Amino acid sequence: MEMLIEQLETNITALTDRLGVGSKLLAKNWFARHDFLSPPSTNQSTHDLPFQRWYRFKEAFAPRAVLDAISSLDTAPSTCVDPFGGSGTTALTAQFLGIRPTTIEVNPFLADLIEAKLQLYNTEALLTSFRQVVDDASVIRVDPREELWGAPQTLIAPGVGGRWIYSVQVAERILAYRAAIDALTDKASARLLRVLLGSTLVALSNVVISGKGRRYRSGWKNRVVPVSAVHRMFEAAFLNAVEDIVRFGRRPCTSYTLLRGDARVALANATTADFALFSPPYPNSFDYTDIYNLELWMLGYLKTPVDNRELREATLRSHVQIKRSFEATSSSPSLDRTVAELRSRRSEMWDKQIPEMVRAYFDDLIAVLGELHRVVIPGGSVMMVVGDSRYAGVSIDVGKILVELGKGIGFDLSSLSSMRSMRSSAQQGGTYDLDETLVHLIRA
Ligand SMILES: C[S@@+](CC[C@H](N)C(=O)[O-])C[C@H]1O[C@@H](n2cnc3c(N)ncnc32)[C@H](O)[C@@H]1O
Repeated sequence: MEMLIEQLETNITALTDRLGVGSKLLAKNWFARHDFLSPPSTNQSTHDLPFQRWYRFKEAFAPRAVLDAISSLDTAPSTCVDPFGGSGTTALTAQFLGIRPTTIEVNPFLADLIEAKLQLYNTEALLTSFRQVVDDASVIRVDPREELWGAPQTLIAPGVGGRWIYSVQVAERILAYRAAIDALTDKASARLLRVLLGSTLVALSNVVISGKGRRYRSGWKNRVVPVSAVHRMFEAAFLNAVEDIVRFGRRPCTSYTLLRGDARVALANATTADFALFSPPYPNSFDYTDIYNLELWMLGYLKTPVDNRELREATLRSHVQIKRSFEATSSSPSLDRTVAELRSRRSEMWDKQIPEMVRAYFDDLIAVLGELHRVVIPGGSVMMVVGDSRYAGVSIDVGKILVELGKGIGFDLSSLSSMRSMRSSAQQGGTYDLDETLVHLIRA
């Protein structure tokens, strides 16, 4: 253990020296909170890290994996880009290392989570905003059914078929806090407080998120969530966040660019970067919009079924849960062979569109890689953590296919390395026997 810590400290010192970071101590103290006994690329235990504990994002990178990736680059970077921001791990870690991040995220709740981590705070204003919200929420009264008229009916009791996610009383309190937050004039504080309210929503609900979706807690009908839990959890989340902001707010880089929207389109607005590091959704039918439905509806990011549909349309074509066009033209020897095999087993599939979805998935990734070819400097690295999938016994070797497709648009292969240690914790969506691979391409 001691040796591991020493080794990590040496690595951070070497990296921060190369990067010319003034405040090494801050980065060291942040990384020092990692679980050193786990393999470096696992994301286990990083949920307790400052900032990462604000919201449990199951599919997050471990910051150490970001550190390792950056350490492996030949030239120290000063800018980076992550087109699939998620919970903002790449961008936040980059800030700790003095690297200016650009990141993109389509899900507006997650985009707020990212920005809440990256932005600078005036702590006095933040404390004032918190007090204001607590005071205002105590007198605000909201009718949840009126406020959430466009949301799925299961959200509030009596729900549908005897099942509901929130009691009327708990929903009423959550919405009162949301209204008080919406009324704040300090937008940075409002963003953080909204995210922190979001971090309480699963715990306050009758469901848990597991595998590829939500399911009701066992014995949920006998579980009473007290209305007072809304304030208690919100306050606890706030105290953690304030501690992290006070300790780690002044990072070596405090600027960033966050582009909200679909990476396939939004990357056109990104400026040059020295390298890219990201993990796109895997083609495993994990529907990110659905998974974050509680936050999206309860916090007012979605107001109508049309909003919901539009957001789902803007996500990568990695799932078949919505009817959408899977038109695609990407072609490579491995992709064509895989799609042909999938087609031959179509009758065994739980959704007949899966073969087309798989080709469309690669079309989308190639659209993103095509834009990255413009954004990343010649000779710069593009590092992607990708995961394989399997349908009706047909495996999709995502890394190999991407290498073939990438060649056609000006990317050379640097290395393909297995990230097996991430398997138990990353975005497997319930499947635990598939490879995750770090694909390292060089922009020719
Ligand atoms: C695997 S997660 C990224 C996790 C991230 N590396 C982290 O450490 O938190 C993939 C993210 O891509 C986002 N996403 C899906 N489709 C997108 C699109 N078209 N444009 C931008 N982001 C998208 C999802 O909402 C999700 O947050």
